[in-house]
Amino acid sequence: MKRPITAILKSEQLNQALAVAVKAAQTAGQMMRRNLRVAKKVNAASQHDIKLDLDVQCQQIIEKCLRKAFPQHSILGEEGDCGEAHSLYRWVVDPIDGTVNFAYGIPHACVSIALQYRSSNVLPGLAGAPQYQTELGVVYDPFCEEMWTAVRGQPARLNDRLIQVSNRQQLKETIISLGFAKHQDSLEKMLPNFQAMVHRVRKIRIMGSAALDLVYVATGRMDAYLEAGVRLWDIAAGGFILECAGGEFWHQPLPGEHFYRVIATNGTLRSRLEKLVVLTTTKN
Ligand code: IPD
Ligand code: CA
Repeated sequence: MKRPITAILKSEQLNQALAVAVKAAQTAGQMMRRNLRVAKKVNAASQHDIKLDLDVQCQQIIEKCLRKAFPQHSILGEEGDCGEAHSLYRWVVDPIDGTVNFAYGIPHACVSIALQYRSSNVLPGLAGAPQYQTELGVVYDPFCEEMWTAVRGQPARLNDRLIQVSNRQQLKETIISLGFAKHQDSLEKMLPNFQAMVHRVRKIRIMGSAALDLVYVATGRMDAYLEAGVRLWDIAAGGFILECAGGEFWHQPLPGEHFYRVIATNGTLRSRLEKLVVLTTTKN
């Protein structure tokens, strides 16, 4: 018999979903830790990107945990999708965010998992794209053993302790992280932004993991993160955690599937940054 599909998860069910996501992230994280310094099988490489077999293996680990606990939920992952495309809940998974860092043995990469609820009533065959609302987010850095979590209606946490964004308001005091994606077009867009900001802020950082950039802003370590074109799995969990920590996760869809530009801040800096930067990008 088919299981009934529950509507909105109650808070205890959300906490149970969080526990499953945490376990999935830890299991994939163990695999990342074991493999940081070993030679890795490369499945594909382009000028500015690498795809590892470990990306696929880590997604399989995560999928197994999530699908076992929630067989009726679908998965939208960087390494592929599974489950019923129009399910009420979907998990948005980036098994390794910061793959190039990880491939080179740089311990700055993470697992990113978000649970989203389909909030619009759009059914297959009807016009309009379904809208999704994030219900929980997990970002796990297995090298620093840092686990960021947030559940709708509750404050964000790092290793179970509450976190908050910075209150820095003067650009000259800020650290701003920039994302340089793999597409030539978005690299070209980001370079003038680097030039425009580098003399105005305390430091610019280019760290190589969008999910960690977002949770670093959520934790007050950095004050903003900007990127001209990034995918949903890079930002869904970290953006939600940032909002739950009092920050602003401004993201705007771009042409191309699950593609966004992002200005994520401590909640006070966006208008100042927008005077300096242009984030439009055209190509997928
Ligand atoms: C990338 C990282 C990087 C960002 C790129 C992403 P990946 O994800 O988050 O920081 O600049 O836009 O594609 O390929 O390492 O999973
Ligand atoms: Ca990613």
